[in-house]
Amino acid sequence: MADRYLSFTGTAPGRFLTRRLGLPQPAPLKRWSERSTSLGGPLLHLTAGKSDLELAPVLARTGLAAGTESGARSGAEKPAAVVLDATGVRDVGTLGEVHAALHPVVRSVAASGRVVVLGAPLDTDDHHQCAAQQALEGFTRSLGKEIGRGRTVNLVRLTDADAAESTLRFLLSPKSAYVSGQVIGIGIGIGIGDGEVTAPAAWDRPLAGRTALVTGAARGIGEAVAETLARDGARVVVLDVPAAEADARRVAERLGGTALALDITAADAGERIVDALPDGLDVLIHNAGITRDRRLVNMPAERWSSVLEVNLASVLRTTDALLAGGALRPGGRIVATASIAGLAGNAGQTNYGASKAGVAGLVRSLAPRALAEHRVTVNAVAPGFIETKMTAAVPLFIREAGRRMNSLAQGGLPADVAETTAWLAHPASGAVNGQVVRVCGQSLLGA
Ligand SMILES: NC(=O)c1ccc[n+]([C@@H]2O[C@H](COP(=O)([O-])OP(=O)(O)OC[C@H]3O[C@@H](n4cnc5c(N)ncnc54)[C@H](O)[C@@H]3O)[C@@H](O)[C@H]2O)c1
Repeated sequence: MADRYLSFTGTAPGRFLTRRLGLPQPAPLKRWSERSTSLGGPLLHLTAGKSDLELAPVLARTGLAAGTESGARSGAEKPAAVVLDATGVRDVGTLGEVHAALHPVVRSVAASGRVVVLGAPLDTDDHHQCAAQQALEGFTRSLGKEIGRGRTVNLVRLTDADAAESTLRFLLSPKSAYVSGQVIGIGIGIGIGDGEVTAPAAWDRPLAGRTALVTGAARGIGEAVAETLARDGARVVVLDVPAAEADARRVAERLGGTALALDITAADAGERIVDALPDGLDVLIHNAGITRDRRLVNMPAERWSSVLEVNLASVLRTTDALLAGGALRPGGRIVATASIAGLAGNAGQTNYGASKAGVAGLVRSLAPRALAEHRVTVNAVAPGFIETKMTAAVPLFIREAGRRMNSLAQGGLPADVAETTAWLAHPASGAVNGQVVRVCGQSLLGA
């Protein structure tokens, strides 16, 4: 369902009228395509406090030319991205350097540009440092809400710039167009050690030689995920219910992969995947999901259990079966699909919200163990309002509210979730573990 409001505000009369009425101003987002692989303009590298990060070589490899502060201040060369290294912020005094660094340049950041703030881990006994570092979260999320013009603001906590290369490349590219207001931890967090970070032979085909299985990939977000992983070089297995087999085959043929007709709730789904992939797999994407909305007072047990079965129980069962059987090769990646409804709650979705919050719980508990025992990372994406058949069926006014109630004032596309999934599946993302990353344009729902 086309977003007519977004098209209207792209016209001169539309812009004039909606500005006068104080209505949202969505900007067309610059997304990745074969012809537009980079954000273009220069990258400005700023520092607040004294940093020990070896960041410059990693930033140089993003392919964005270095910008200068004076150019940005005068507006002569609009930076496409600003990276503020605030890992050295230790107290309220040095926090002031964040303001001093960004205040003069933020206006000049190009439309659809990026602000990436780098912070230190919060596991310090120094409560002044912890306060100043946590302050970066409120800063990042507030700037994300006010910056406008399709620009995004994210915070990355890290200790090693090399381990964050895949993440910085993602955030500093058009692939992260709909990811804003996120706090992403690299190689840190609840007992999550450094994972295996393997720089790919070719950064534009990072999954070459790897096999990826995507559940629910006959259409919608799953189809886009399969497409993106195939673009990145993976051999894809397109899994969907037997009733969708024809569509699954069509997708698989287009991508040079194979289709697997299987209801993921089958008790033996794990074994059947292992049988279909005797050589094992590297990337497991739990995307299949359903909604059966009703308020709790009107919800029969069948609606509750069908949603919990598809969205959570089968995710747990197949994950356990594939890990226990050693089907997921070392260096493997599991990416599950949560939802902002699971983080913020949504009226009429007690079943769906429970299932998607459960996915976040699975990630939290399994991530450190799967990495330690199997050398496999476990993360989740949490989509917000994404333009799919699922959301096209939502009544007009609720749909319009869903589209506008985020910092980018528009819905995301399946490709936005797919690009985020591809970053988490990347061989160089081994230090990204236990994260639930929202792809929601910084939705006003939830944190
Ligand atoms: N569209 C959104 O705005 C949005 C927002 C948040 C989260 N999500 C989540 O993203 C995922 C994909 O959503 P979508 O919008 O593309 O949905 P969709 O309904 O378009 O596609 C879901 C696919 O999963 C398949 N599927 C369902 N049950 C299955 C089963 N038992 N076994 C195998 N396959 C099964 C379906 O046949 C379908 O092809 C879901 O987990 C959904 O909950 C979507």
